[in-house]
Amino acid sequence: MASSLSIENVSAGYGAVHVLSDVTLRAGDGETVVLLGTNGNGKSTLIKCVTGQVRPTTGRIVAEIDGQSHDLVGMATEDIVGLGIGIVPEGRRLFPKLTVEENLLLGAYRTGARAKIGPNLEFCFETFPRLRERRRQMAGSMSGGEQQMLALGRALMASPRILIIDEPSVGLAPILVTRVIDKIAELKAGLGLTVLMAEQNFQQAIRIADRGYVLVHGKIEFSATSVEDLSRSDVVRRLYLGI
Ligand SMILES: Nc1ncnc2c1ncn2[C@@H]1O[C@H](COP(=O)(O)OP(=O)(O)OP(=O)(O)O)[C@@H](O)[C@H]1O
Ligand SMILES: [Mg+2]
Repeated sequence: MASSLSIENVSAGYGAVHVLSDVTLRAGDGETVVLLGTNGNGKSTLIKCVTGQVRPTTGRIVAEIDGQSHDLVGMATEDIVGLGIGIVPEGRRLFPKLTVEENLLLGAYRTGARAKIGPNLEFCFETFPRLRERRRQMAGSMSGGEQQMLALGRALMASPRILIIDEPSVGLAPILVTRVIDKIAELKAGLGLTVLMAEQNFQQAIRIADRGYVLVHGKIEFSATSVEDLSRSDVVRRLYLGI
């Protein structure tokens, strides 16, 4: 069944700090949409609006999941996850003193996911064999790449239909960025997920994105209908390609 995410005219900030202005964005069923933007332009703030960590001052955020429409503004993060929206937050936010397996199990707290703990754990271990090998290791002692895999695995434990990922490439060596991005594409294809991914690494993001948006000073500066369209845009050429 179809799943999609629509952000409509969202403005948001932190107290007197105004960050997002009138942002409209959509990720349709089965699409991978990248949200580009350099440091401090509001990518994480927009992701946090979707995940219930920042409340927009205006606008609507609607998730369509299996034929049902949900207004996400005002909902708690755990309830948003409960709808089938997997979150891989900026900085991964693992529990460093808990084991790999314990971190994964914490991803399955939503009622619907509890029944599928066994198969979902097995799926995570098949997808990321390193996590199986290290299941008893403390998450905080895993390498950066392994921790990013763990954060993805934890999101999968909730059987998501929509995956929201904030900068998966941060702090990873180039080879690991390639691996993580490839995994996201593989998961999306295998599970039929709808993906919204904030990312600064343009070249890596466009390998798997269907299309994308560029956020500059909290506004959508460019909205592309394809990755070719993105590569050709003046704002991308200026910000990412040095042209
Ligand atoms: N909790 C907060 N309180 C006040 N201002 C904040 C807070 N979080 C973020 N900001 C400000 O909001 C603006 C946008 O930050 P945001 O984290 O959304 O950017 P970003 O595009 O994700 O950047 P990065 O690529 O560095 O992660 C920045 O100016 C930042 O300083
Ligand atoms: Mg950010």
